[in-house]
Amino acid sequence: MEPTRNRPISAEKNLPGAVKYGNKIDIMDKILIRGGGTLKGTIPISGAKNATLPALAATLLTSDRVYLSNIPHLVDVTTMLELLGRHGAALTIDEKLGVEIDNKGIDNFCAPYDLVRTMRASILVMGPMLAHYGQAEISLPGGCAIGSRPVNLHIQGLRALGADISLGNGFIRARCKRLSGARIYLEPVTVTGTENLLMAATLADGITTLENAAREPEVVDLANMLISMGAKIRGAGSSTIIIEGVKELHGTSHTIIPDRIETVTFIIAAAITNGEVTLTNTQSEFLTVPLEKLRQAGVIIEEEGGNSLKVRSNGNLQAVDFQTSPYPGFPTDIQAQMLVFNSMAAGSSIVTETIFENRFMHVSELQRMGANIQIHGNSVHVQGMGKLVGAPVMATDLRASASLVLAGLAAEGETLISRVYHLDRGYERIEEKLLALGAEIKRLSE
Ligand code: EPU
Repeated sequence: MEPTRNRPISAEKNLPGAVKYGNKIDIMDKILIRGGGTLKGTIPISGAKNATLPALAATLLTSDRVYLSNIPHLVDVTTMLELLGRHGAALTIDEKLGVEIDNKGIDNFCAPYDLVRTMRASILVMGPMLAHYGQAEISLPGGCAIGSRPVNLHIQGLRALGADISLGNGFIRARCKRLSGARIYLEPVTVTGTENLLMAATLADGITTLENAAREPEVVDLANMLISMGAKIRGAGSSTIIIEGVKELHGTSHTIIPDRIETVTFIIAAAITNGEVTLTNTQSEFLTVPLEKLRQAGVIIEEEGGNSLKVRSNGNLQAVDFQTSPYPGFPTDIQAQMLVFNSMAAGSSIVTETIFENRFMHVSELQRMGANIQIHGNSVHVQGMGKLVGAPVMATDLRASASLVLAGLAAEGETLISRVYHLDRGYERIEEKLLALGAEIKRLSE
């Protein structure tokens, strides 16, 4: 297949042999679920969205070809591919969930507003582009549905590495000759901030130490990819990462880790529908804390053959208290889904959100489905009802959408979810996977 240069992947339908990549964003799409059924069967878990996005950005660190496999077909991935295409990358997609990125032709260093505003993770191109090409111009991401989400630590960190950065007209403009290593303390812990600085430091002159670095598996996956490109990195997965800069990085072939958030979302789906589901192509070692909580709550999760999990409820689910925190703590990206779990379980629970200040937008929608949840500052009190009732609801962000799908699956009657384009950003073929498990679910396009 001929590589496509500067061409958005979403427009690739005419390429011979190319698989359809990502989903068309149709903001009018709705999902209709008739709940109350039991999910049964086996489905594969996709590659992790939050590992794929930095991996794609990391390709900007080399002019050699990079091949990435286990890439999920998601709107956010399409957006990142589109961004690389605008920078001048040639992208080739194959049928095996793989993408080859050839960055020899990079000649545009601007990440424009129309892409950044749809996906904040576009900021991830700043570090690698600056380190490799000496310049980057990124539209400032604004706030979003889950909080204000500043990028001050990305900017301060790159400044500490010697970048000359100015802000104006809604853009971050960064320039440098060669970045130089520095000691950088990140407070609060930031996932994409750690990733941006990790990537930038690989090509800096000298040693960079990232302190209070994020320890998420996606950071480790990125570090492993960078090491396979010739980077010298120690300590990824701990809170101190030490990077010894090298002059250049070379191409590689890298397989993205499984999506731990999708894994837990399906575990919850199986448990609250009293189902029995096997999840293949996943890795439980990324999920120690949430799996422990779910087991404590009555979910039976058995490891099968290394990368599969067999899940069912013990028939007596109990609500659990938890507080979100950076990895290895309880992920904020599962908080919304767990509120549905706690609503379907027996007993009351307190859930505290410590990462994002506005991540309870799903609560009012869940209340419309009969959930008894009260917000008190950054905590909620959930009184388990053992049941939910179908209703028309509206998705507000990606994980909120997932919680509404879960609620719809468990609820009596029909749930109609609007604004499901949020879901398409982070869950690959969710209706297909749920249909394969016997759910009554369909997408309505207007
Ligand atoms: N923060 C700052 N300054 C910064 C950066 C972050 O104050 O410069 C604060 C944030 O406001 C927040 C906290 O630090 O309060 C943590 O934010 P973080 O930077 O870690 O979030 P992120 O890197 O923007 C990633 C994931 C999110 C996930 C969070 C937390 C990607 C592409 N996104 O976001 O994923 O919720 O880490 O784990 O990796 C999702 O997939 O639904 C999603 C939102």
